[in-house]
Amino acid sequence: MKRNPHLAKLNSHYLFPEIAKRKQVFLAKNPSAKLISLGIGDTTEPIPSSIIPALMQRAQQLGTKEGYSGYGPEQGEQLLREHIVQQLYPNWVEAEEVFISDGSKCDIGRLQILFGNQASVAVQNPTYPVYVDTSVIVGQTHSKELIHLTCHPENQFFPDLNQIPPVDILYFCSPNNPTGAAASYDQLTQLVNFAKQHRSILVYDAAYAWYIQEPHLPRSIYAIKGAREVAIELGSFSKMAGFTGVRLAWSIVPKELTFEDGHPLHQDWKRIHSTFFNGASNLAQAGGLAALQPAGIQAMHELKTFYMENAQLLKTTFQELGYSVYGGINAPYLWVKFPIENSWEAFEFLLEKAHIICTPGSGFGEAGEGFLRFSAFGHRTTIQEAVSRLHAIHPT
Ligand code: MLT
Repeated sequence: MKRNPHLAKLNSHYLFPEIAKRKQVFLAKNPSAKLISLGIGDTTEPIPSSIIPALMQRAQQLGTKEGYSGYGPEQGEQLLREHIVQQLYPNWVEAEEVFISDGSKCDIGRLQILFGNQASVAVQNPTYPVYVDTSVIVGQTHSKELIHLTCHPENQFFPDLNQIPPVDILYFCSPNNPTGAAASYDQLTQLVNFAKQHRSILVYDAAYAWYIQEPHLPRSIYAIKGAREVAIELGSFSKMAGFTGVRLAWSIVPKELTFEDGHPLHQDWKRIHSTFFNGASNLAQAGGLAALQPAGIQAMHELKTFYMENAQLLKTTFQELGYSVYGGINAPYLWVKFPIENSWEAFEFLLEKAHIICTPGSGFGEAGEGFLRFSAFGHRTTIQEAVSRLHAIHPT
């Protein structure tokens, strides 16, 4: 059988496994090195204690005749969908428009099935690599079909939409992974207007929305008038509740959102969900429901505050060292202009000199060259140790 030609067009390694490989190579040569990982954005603190009893209780129920349940609804448990709406999207969406899943990354992959390979696509540059890789896998590989919107400090990490040709799908991540920039009401209004004007579909990835701290910033695309007609939103418990291993996320597809021929996306998304997916784990959903109770919400705010204090410690350090640093205020990522132009060389420099792992900016697209991304997820002692190592080496 011939290899799928689209797979051959991918970069040979997904970014984070490539970093893990370099880490292993380094450790093989330096077995006693105490590496600090500020690379992949993976949560480190325990799941809030108010969520744990719900996970345990559901597990125990599954071990009884009365409490056992098999497949759940493909779209997710009704109560969880209702709580997501009440807590995060009051008056903006209906529970029936929420689809519970095992992760935003998986949702992005399944969205490609919804869109097919004829759609033209625009992504931010730098960007979370999954939008690009999943688009390439289904066959959108020509530059005409895959448009890169450069986002850099000079344009406040927001593309000039007047320069963009009409596209079918526009991926936009805010708060942004990797730059940490969070879009304003005005910027999101521009996006919605662009999508309306060109009849594009906006895929709004809000996986880090919980980290928005500045009250004047929108937390959902549905805070923008008209967004229900153009936007799908992705949300996740991963970084909000420490569920990167538990796996739980959601997508929202409003009923007003239609294809060119008037057919609702909602219907097709439901069809895809029930064909490709048998519903998120019932244990994870019990945890998600507990996370959205008052005690869970309070604990998730405390978790966010903890990580954002880490972000502040790192940000201050980079500023003291004289670097230009972005993000870290409404997102758990810092985007640092490093004095070494090549991002992978800068990555290797930090690994060698400080035993710190970060993520090279160029791994998110060519506009990321010269930058490094630092994740603020980590134990406090780890972040403090990273801070003192950064002070100890000061590349010029
Ligand atoms: C990241 O480091 O960019 C994220 O952890 C990756 C992800 O959420 O898939």
